[in-house]
Amino acid sequence: MNGYRTGAAIAEHPGYTIVENASLRGRNTLQVAAQAALLIDVRKPQALAEVFAYPALRTQPLLVLGAGSNILFAGDWPGIVLSIAARGIGVVEDRGDGALVRVEAGEAWNDVVAWSLAKGFAGLENLVLIPGLAGASPIQNIGAYGTEVGEFIETVEAFDREAGRLVRLGNAECAFGYRDSRFKRAPDRYVITAIELALPRSRPLRTGYAGIGEELAALGAAVPTPALVAEAIARIRTRKLPNPALIGNAGSFFKNPVIDADEAEALKRAHPALPAWPAGDGRTKLAAAWLIEQCGFKGLREGDAGVSDEHALVLVNHGHASGAELLALARRIVDTVAQRFGVVLEPEPRIVGAS
Ligand code: FAD
Ligand code: EPU
Repeated sequence: MNGYRTGAAIAEHPGYTIVENASLRGRNTLQVAAQAALLIDVRKPQALAEVFAYPALRTQPLLVLGAGSNILFAGDWPGIVLSIAARGIGVVEDRGDGALVRVEAGEAWNDVVAWSLAKGFAGLENLVLIPGLAGASPIQNIGAYGTEVGEFIETVEAFDREAGRLVRLGNAECAFGYRDSRFKRAPDRYVITAIELALPRSRPLRTGYAGIGEELAALGAAVPTPALVAEAIARIRTRKLPNPALIGNAGSFFKNPVIDADEAEALKRAHPALPAWPAGDGRTKLAAAWLIEQCGFKGLREGDAGVSDEHALVLVNHGHASGAELLALARRIVDTVAQRFGVVLEPEPRIVGAS
C-alpha cells in the first residue's frame, strides 16, 4: 500500500459513508501516509448500532479517529477506521449562573471555545486553539495554560462496544488525570458521540501561567476578560507551536514526566535550570522540552523527520517522513534522555500500526 490511493465509497447511507482502501494522509496532522481497509464516517450516531452490526466490525480491528492531531500512524491500519462527524452545540439546561451545554463529537474543539465565549460563558478560554474534535477532548483530558477540559465535563455520551449500546458516563466515572482518562486506558471500547459541559457565566480568570500576564499587558488589557485571555493565549500558542497546516506535527510528542519529588530535587541540584512544578502527592512535573533540548535534539532533522526548532517537544514531518521514521526518532529521544537524566519519557500521541 502506498498511502496515497484514493478510496472508493462502497456504501452511502443517510447516517454514514463507508470508503474502501482509504488514504489517511489527510486525516492526521503529522501528515503521514497510511491506509485503512475501510473508513467509516458516521454523521448520525443513531446509526452506530446498525454500523456495528456489519460482520466486518466484529472480525477486523477498529480504530476510532477524530481529526488525527494526536496520533502517529507508524504503518497502515490493518482494519477499520471509524470517525464521528456529527455536529451541533446547544444549551440543554439553563442554570442561571451557568448552563449545561451539549456538544456533538464532530464539532471542532476550537469552535466550541469560540461559541462559549460568544455566548458569554467563561472557563474554556485557556483551552483556545487546541486542534482536534470535541469527541476526542475527554480522551487525554485536553489541557493548557492551567486548565483541563475535565473540570467542565459533566457527562460523556458514548457507544460502549462491550455493552453494544449508548451509555452516559458521569465526570467521576471518566477518571480524568493529567493527559489521562478511563477512555485512554481502554482504547476504542467507547466511541464518544457527545460531551456535556457545565459552563459558568463567570469565574476567576487563570492568568498565572508563564507569559499570559505579559501578553495581556501587550494587548493593553487593563481589565482582562475571558475573550482577552483567549486572545493572549492564542498569540502565545501561535508563536510557540508550529502550525500543522504548514508543517506536519502532533503538538507535544511526549508527556511532561511526573516523578518522585525527591528524585526531582536531586535532578534540580545537578541541573538548576531544569523547569519543575509541584504535581501533588509528593510528585513533581518536569519540562520534557527542556530535557530534550539539553540533549541537542531541538531543530534536528534526519531526512524529513525532525524536531521543531520552535519547540523541542514537537516532532515534525518536513514533507514525506514515514510514521516509522518518526517513531525511530522518538525512540532515540527517549533513549538519550533516559541515559542522560534517568527519566523515561512517554509519548503523548497514540501510536498505531507499529510492527
Ligand atoms: P485524534 O488524534 O484523532 O485521536 C486521539 C485519540 O482519541 C485516539 O486514541 C483516538 O482513538 C481517540 N478518539 C478520537 N475521537 C474519539 C471518539 N469520538 N471516541 C473515542 N475515541 C476517540 N493537546 C492538549 O491536551 N493540549 C494542548 O495544548 C494541545 N496542543 C496541541 C497543539 C498542536 C499544534 C497539535 C497538533 C496538537 C495539540 N494537542 C494538544 C493534541 C490534540 O490536539 C488533542 O489530543 C486533541 O484532543 C486530539 O483530537 P483529535 O480529534 O485530533 O483526536
Ligand atoms: N522549554 C524548553 N525548550 C523548548 C520549549 C520549552 O526548554 O524548546 C521549556 C520552557 O522554557 C518552559 C517549559 O519548557 O519552562 C514548558 O514549556 P511550555 O510552556 O511551552 O509548555 P510544555 O510543558 O512544553 C505543555 C503541554 C502543551 C500545552 C502547554 C501550555 C504537555 C505534554 N504539553 O507544554 O500541550 O499547550 O503546556 O499549557 O503537557 C500538547 O499536549 O500537545 C500540548 C501542546
